[in-house]
Amino acid sequence: MNAWNRSLAQSWFVVARTSEVGTKPRAVTLLDRPLAIARDASGALFALDDCCPHRHVPLSAGRMTEQGLQCAYHGWTFAADGRCVAIPGLRSGACQPAVRVGSAKVMEVDGLVWVRLDGMGDANADALPEFIRRPSVHARRFMWQAVWNARAIDALENFLDAQHTHFVHPGIVRSGRGRQAVDVTVTRSAGALQVDYKGQPVQSGWLYRLFESRRESERARFDAAAAGTAQLEYRYENGSALYFTLHFSPVSEAVTRVYGTLHIENRWAPRWAVRAFAWPLLRRVLRQDRQIVEAQAQNRNRCRRGEGISTELDVVRPALDAVWLQSNEASTESVHKIRVFL
Ligand code: FES
Ligand SMILES: [Fe+2]
Repeated sequence: MNAWNRSLAQSWFVVARTSEVGTKPRAVTLLDRPLAIARDASGALFALDDCCPHRHVPLSAGRMTEQGLQCAYHGWTFAADGRCVAIPGLRSGACQPAVRVGSAKVMEVDGLVWVRLDGMGDANADALPEFIRRPSVHARRFMWQAVWNARAIDALENFLDAQHTHFVHPGIVRSGRGRQAVDVTVTRSAGALQVDYKGQPVQSGWLYRLFESRRESERARFDAAAAGTAQLEYRYENGSALYFTLHFSPVSEAVTRVYGTLHIENRWAPRWAVRAFAWPLLRRVLRQDRQIVEAQAQNRNRCRRGEGISTELDVVRPALDAVWLQSNEASTESVHKIRVFL
């Protein structure tokens, strides 16, 4: 047991890229729970507790056999549901202990491996919030990953928060001058958050000037069903769209893995051009975000603080708090409108 909000065990989190998981087991840690992830010969995914119940050797040091994941020490072998299916050397008819190792639900969607720790529910894409499945299969997709020494909740807030952009990304995302009135609608329902921004079809930073055109809508999304994931969606008057999705995967309270995807729909964006021009700027933005969120984490520990003080500008925090820090968000339904200056 650990200090994480219990409801997070019902949520889907990314733990790896699909290409990183083969028949050789991989050790990952999600919400302080160590797991061994692997595929059998048919490609089916296993997600088992990374600790053999015999003498506690990591199962991630083992190998995949026809029967299942085999421990490297004495060969106890486990099926995908965690049942021990073989103990080499035991005479037939000998009493085999009814052991099993803990298992989690695991699936792959959009090139990423997702895990649900409580082992409940169906493991298919429908279990994820609609916004994650929304980008068309024809969209051009870019992917990258990083490790941030920060809390997942603070990283999520940073990604969804527009107010820091003037200060942390001056000139790149927004220039520090000339704020415009923007109408923000915050819609919450059963663990889900949607923030719509109206009134800024043109944005002041270089990213907009170089790579975007007049926006029709701008939306931020979050949903407790995939509590580490958040998305910024931009739709343009010329019919194109851009989905920027970050998946924050908490290893522990101090360390969060980050998997990012960028989907580009109906827009001229050859891979080489995005890699050569947009990428360096986006990487810089992510580096700036990482630095400020890591400084926040370090100083929160140094000064021994709990949660900070918010104003009505901190529109995403209540929904994140409800999922990550409090229990029971289920009954919250509200639509809240506010004018801010961005
Ligand atoms: S420690 Fe795993 S089989 Fe002995
Ligand atoms: Fe940022």
